[in-house]
Amino acid sequence: MACHTVLPLLFLLFLLAMAATADDVAPGPTTPPPELNLTNILENGGQYTTLLRLLNATRITEQITSQLKNSYDGLTFFAPNDNAFTKLKAGTLNALTDQEQIQLLLYHVLPRYYSLTTFQTASNPLHTEASGPGGMYSVNVSTSTTSPLVNVSTGVVDVPISSTLFARFPFAVYSVDDVLQPPQMFGSSHKAFAPAPGQAAAAAGRQKGVPKSDVAAEPSEAVEEPEGSSTNAAAAGRGIAVWLTTVIVLGGMALFLNLLVSA
Ligand SMILES: *[C@@H]1O[C@H](CO)[C@@H](O)[C@H](O)[C@H]1NC(C)=O
Ligand SMILES: *[C@@H]1O[C@H](CO)[C@@H](O)[C@H](O)[C@H]1NC(C)=O
Ligand SMILES: *[C@@H]1O[C@H](CO)[C@@H](O)[C@H](O)[C@H]1NC(C)=O
Ligand SMILES: *[C@@H]1O[C@H](CO)[C@@H](O)[C@H](O)[C@H]1NC(C)=O
Repeated sequence: MACHTVLPLLFLLFLLAMAATADDVAPGPTTPPPELNLTNILENGGQYTTLLRLLNATRITEQITSQLKNSYDGLTFFAPNDNAFTKLKAGTLNALTDQEQIQLLLYHVLPRYYSLTTFQTASNPLHTEASGPGGMYSVNVSTSTTSPLVNVSTGVVDVPISSTLFARFPFAVYSVDDVLQPPQMFGSSHKAFAPAPGQAAAAAGRQKGVPKSDVAAEPSEAVEEPEGSSTNAAAAGRGIAVWLTTVIVLGGMALFLNLLVSA
């Protein structure tokens, strides 16, 4: 007699387990992911008019938006403020071709999400989205355990991340007080924008190191939990499913024991 009561209960538990699993795979339609909008982030930050104009003119904003939708690893964007652009030699931006402007902007994009903490375990050099058949365009990051600064160096400039404008997987936007100048465009070989001789020599010296292509993810980076609200909602959903299952199991056990005793 007890057996007849337990079987339907087991079936119910099975259904609940299936529901919990389905919840893991697809979060419900009630939690649309927030639209990540680089324009918005930069406008809120103030001080990024030149960058916004460049991003718009080159249509890189659209490219970043669509990449964010299709990327497993996320993106990191270094945003030079208006002050950074005023440090460039006069006429520098206008002297760049459209293609070079795109290349310069893509040099500010890393094809994965880095929080300030995951920069500590990143292995240099990190290639940027400007890398391609034309060569490896990479930056180095350096961190210190004693100071909160993360420095980004290109071989031409070395600049600390001055503030975090946005950092939630899959997108990080950090403000920098210098335009990240790739040595390929601003190093000694590029006469139009050659930096001071000392700087150029240093850049050329550093460039001799062959960039390693193993910028693969550190295992520890994968551990970093995305903090999106949809994830929280999914987790909450799972929590409810687990709670329900527990209640049913305990109830079923009580009923079963009761039947055993009365039998
Ligand atoms: C991003 O934000 C800007 C300014 O708030 C707005 O004009 C633009 O339409 C937004 N883009 C998308 C793709 O939502
Ligand atoms: C963005 O660029 C388009 C042309 O590509 C232009 O019509 C528009 O005014 C620009 N918007 C801003 C905010 O600069
Ligand atoms: C970053 O650069 C500043 C000077 O620009 C320097 O004082 C600091 O020690 C550097 N930090 C690291 C982690 O390299
Ligand atoms: C970047 O780091 C790599 C590996 O440590 C090194 O070989 C290279 O010279 C560095 N480049 C710059 C520009 O600092």
